[in-house]
Amino acid sequence: MTWHASVLTLFPEMFPGPLGLSLAGRALREAAWRLDAIDIRGFATDRHRTVDDTPCGGGAGMVMRPDVVDAAIAAALESGPGRSAVALTPRGRPLDQALVREFSGGPGVVLLCGRFEGIDQRVIEARDMREVSIGDYVLSGGEPAALVLLDACVRLLPGVMGAAASADEESFSDGLLEYPHYTRPAEWQGRRVPDVLLSGHHAEVARWRRAEAARTTRERRPDLWARHSRTIQARDGAGGDAPLAAHPAAA
Ligand code: 6GU
Repeated sequence: MTWHASVLTLFPEMFPGPLGLSLAGRALREAAWRLDAIDIRGFATDRHRTVDDTPCGGGAGMVMRPDVVDAAIAAALESGPGRSAVALTPRGRPLDQALVREFSGGPGVVLLCGRFEGIDQRVIEARDMREVSIGDYVLSGGEPAALVLLDACVRLLPGVMGAAASADEESFSDGLLEYPHYTRPAEWQGRRVPDVLLSGHHAEVARWRRAEAARTTRERRPDLWARHSRTIQARDGAGGDAPLAAHPAAA
C-alpha cells in the first residue's frame, strides 16, 4: 500500500509546495506516496463558512471549532483508515527521528495544521490525536511543520532516496551529529582540507570522522552527547568507549 498523507489546513495551496520538488516530488509523481491537501473550510456548516470561534474563558485570538475539525478528520480517515491523526501545535511533543521512523513505518498520517490561538482540546482527545511540535519557537501555523514532518518521513520510504540517505539515517541513529565535509580544491581562500582526508588511509579517515562527530556533538549538543554516552554504556558496559562516554567533561 502507498504511504498516504492527508493534510487538513486552511491553506491547501501551501501543498505540495517544496514537497513537489526534488526527491519527494519525484516520488510523489511516481506514486511512491500520496498527498491530499484538504481544506478545513469545506467542512464548515454555516453560510459564512466559519471555522473558528472565541476562546471560552476569554482572551485574545480565536480557537478552531471541534465540530468542523472533526468532520474534516472523518473525511480524511474515510479515504485511508487506520492512520494516526496528528495535531501540529507548539504544545506538542518535539518531533525527533524516532517519531519520524514510527510515522514513516506505518500506513501514513493525517496531519491537522493548527491556526489561530489553538485547536479545541476536546477534538484532540476525542480523535486520540498525537500533538507534535517541530521546536521551541512560534510559527504562524502548523503548515510549515507539516511540510517538515512529511519531508522527514518520505525520505525514509523504501526506494525514495539512495544509499546516502540510509547512511545518514544510520549515522543519526548513532545519536551523534555528522562530521564536517570537504570537497576539492585541496586549498580554497587559504583554507586547507584536513590532511588526513587526502591521505588515502581509510582507517585514519574513519577515526578522524568519529572523533570530529564526537567533539562537535559534545560542544554543540550536550543533551545528545549524554544520551549517546548512556546508549554506548548500556551496550558495551564499562570498557571500550564507556569511560570516555561516561565522563564527557573529561573527554
Ligand atoms: Cl507544529 N505549530 C506552530 N504554530 N508553531 C510551532 C510548531 C507548530 N512547532 C514549533 N513551533
